[in-house]
Amino acid sequence: EKEPIRVLVTGAAGQIGYAIVPMIARGVMLGPDQPVILHMLDIEPAAEALNGVKMELIDAAFPLLKGVVATTDVVEACKEVNVAVMVGGFPRKEGMERKDVMTKNVSIYKKQASALEQHAAPDCKVLVVANPANTNALILKEFAPSIPEKNITCLTRLDHNRALGQISERLNVHVSDVKNVIIWGNHSSTQYPDVNHAKVTTSSGEKPVRELVADDQWLNTEFITTVQQRGAAIIKARKLSSALSAASSACDHIRNWVLGTPKGTWVSMGVYSDGSYGIERGLIYSFPVTCEKGEWSIVQGLKIDEFSRAKMDATAKELIEEKALAYSCLG
Ligand code: NAI
Repeated sequence: EKEPIRVLVTGAAGQIGYAIVPMIARGVMLGPDQPVILHMLDIEPAAEALNGVKMELIDAAFPLLKGVVATTDVVEACKEVNVAVMVGGFPRKEGMERKDVMTKNVSIYKKQASALEQHAAPDCKVLVVANPANTNALILKEFAPSIPEKNITCLTRLDHNRALGQISERLNVHVSDVKNVIIWGNHSSTQYPDVNHAKVTTSSGEKPVRELVADDQWLNTEFITTVQQRGAAIIKARKLSSALSAASSACDHIRNWVLGTPKGTWVSMGVYSDGSYGIERGLIYSFPVTCEKGEWSIVQGLKIDEFSRAKMDATAKELIEEKALAYSCLG
């Protein structure tokens, strides 16, 4: 039997936490033959609820789950973890300024960065889910300088999966027959969902999405805004933000990162920009990536038209501003 992998989930008593821990314990994240030990962190006010989640994990009798650590101590939570899914954060409350929320999250991510750097396994893979996801990941990277930058990512796979879902609904094909959409940039409403390279598997081979949809107007307007605004639409309908889809997409992100992407398929991940596609270095920006042997690499050489260029730059600009705001909150 394989050695268990230690997976940290922060904010584990929250909505996404509640959805993701059973997925991890069932092998959705790391594979059906990979034992796991779950580390769950939350804050003191949620300690009792966190313990309740631990009780349920015991009650569910998962064959792959070899241990559960439930704690409010960030050092204990980070001990020897191989994968860290950072879901905990400070939500924006009514009447709060962007800067106030940023200040709270910067201080949380600074502290958790140090704990991960000192106590996690040296090759720990980090996925930041909590918003502002890209900028929280950037802060984490800044304050964990010994963790390689390639090991720090943020979640835009939910947006990617939402884009696949919209195309599949429009064309009335199964979502697994659609591939290679791209989410560029920030996990926010400025993100750019791009279908220019996306393909659909049909009975007569692979066809470009643009050819099959044949309605450029829809692709260039409604499709983009639907994906950008999907999070808000879920909140409106559920009175709560996306949780099961966020949890499932976070599992997809880690699974592809660790176990690889299928040949000819890429996925979107928020990763440290190396300047690819003219995106300023030093931002955590969502790019199309392929993964092999536990490492992602940005898909190179895609043709970018003027329409895309403007949208890719607009979302980069927002990230540059967020970065400046985050640094100003460091005080
Ligand atoms: P939630 O409010 O239900 O849960 C958050 C949990 O984090 C709470 O249990 C809270 O006590 C905990 N927490 C707060 N500060 C913490 C700290 N310093 N250390 C550890 N835990 C802490 O929120 P939900 O719905 O689970 O969402 C979590 C985050 O994920 C939010 O920031 C949300 O905006 C973000 N999100 C990101 C998505 C993405 O695609 N990147 C999609 C959906 C949500």
